[in-house]
Amino acid sequence: MSVKSVKPLRTAIVGAGNIARRHAESLQQIAEESGEVELVAAVDTDPGRLADFAAAFSIGGYADTGDLLAAEQVDLVHVCTPPGAHTGPAIAALKAGAHVVLEKPATLTLAEFDRLVAAERATGRYVATVSQHRFGSGVQRLRGLLDSGAAGRPLLALCDTTWYRDQAYFDVEWRGRWDTEGGGPTMGHGIHQIDTMLSVLGPWASVSAVARRQARDTETEDVSLAHVAFDNGAIASVVNSVVSPREESYLRFDFEFATVEVRHLYGYTDTDWTLTAAPGHEEPVTSAWEAGPASIRSEHLAQFREIVRALREGGAPPVTTTDARRTLHLVAGIYASAFGRTPVAAGDLGPDSPHYTLMQGAGPVW
Ligand SMILES: NC(=O)c1ccc[n+]([C@@H]2O[C@H](COP(=O)([O-])OP(=O)(O)OC[C@H]3O[C@@H](n4cnc5c(N)ncnc54)[C@H](O)[C@@H]3O)[C@@H](O)[C@H]2O)c1
Repeated sequence: MSVKSVKPLRTAIVGAGNIARRHAESLQQIAEESGEVELVAAVDTDPGRLADFAAAFSIGGYADTGDLLAAEQVDLVHVCTPPGAHTGPAIAALKAGAHVVLEKPATLTLAEFDRLVAAERATGRYVATVSQHRFGSGVQRLRGLLDSGAAGRPLLALCDTTWYRDQAYFDVEWRGRWDTEGGGPTMGHGIHQIDTMLSVLGPWASVSAVARRQARDTETEDVSLAHVAFDNGAIASVVNSVVSPREESYLRFDFEFATVEVRHLYGYTDTDWTLTAAPGHEEPVTSAWEAGPASIRSEHLAQFREIVRALREGGAPPVTTTDARRTLHLVAGIYASAFGRTPVAAGDLGPDSPHYTLMQGAGPVW
């Protein structure tokens, strides 16, 4: 593909750990395809990690976000630090005039998220949260099918993130703790599927949940189960686990006239999806499904292409703070219901709720 003569978005990555490599590779691929971005620098508080990362991607390195922003003119900052260290670099980048791409979970709490939204509004810059599974062609086809009306009303969804993380996984000091990760598999792992489900079904109304620490020595839960009701009348069952040896990410949507399912683990392709039309509804369900896009894998690259496109056009890049807050809000609702042992309505989680300032509120009694 030819590289256009455009002024690239100068981009930096804060937090040069595991997921930052995916960011850097994706950004460099977009740079090769279109010339619309340029990865210029990385920041990490760990000098060894920083040096390896900067050398691997032939970019500059800084020990601190403030040093980066003082030295470089950047248009876009990707924040890939542990969840408890997202907001500081994000707000600093906004104040320096850059847009921000934030890894999931965006913040540790709703209160912190609202500070980020205030900074977004005050600076006129944008914050996009990573949720790569919204961007594969399968989910786009699913939304197209829903919008076409061919599948009828959404009735029921199953949203399972049954993953396996051994105890050694939690040796990394920020994992499994409320003050650094903000939660267990509900917040850190299931959030991928929860966010995708919400992107299809829209606003949630109420939730009833349980959370348990079944097998891992962590502060947070290692399993949660929730029943969620949506404004549109659909209901969903949501399972989040890091103790499940046969790992799977599973989403199932039952509409009046079609079932749509995807089974994958960390990213899907078109072949991971199945469509089942209700008897007598093969047409128009099949045509509406096949009218959607194809061959887009759900990965960071797919979302970053859309982010760059939106910024080039001067609009809000996906996933917006409104979208990301809805997901964090449901995660807070799951904890509020599980630890309060009571159903929770979406309107119950305002600034007066203990779950607004701490995901765990008064905390679990395991
Ligand atoms: N979207 C996905 O599929 C996906 C997958 C894995 C992780 N993540 C998310 O990415 C984020 C990072 O996860 P990871 O597995 O890469 O973690 P990691 O521990 O491998 O990397 C984090 C890096 O941030 C650095 N760091 C910590 N505080 C910093 C600060 N204040 N300034 C600069 N650097 C700092 C650390 O030294 C480390 O190198 C988390 O929010 C995680 O949930 C997302």
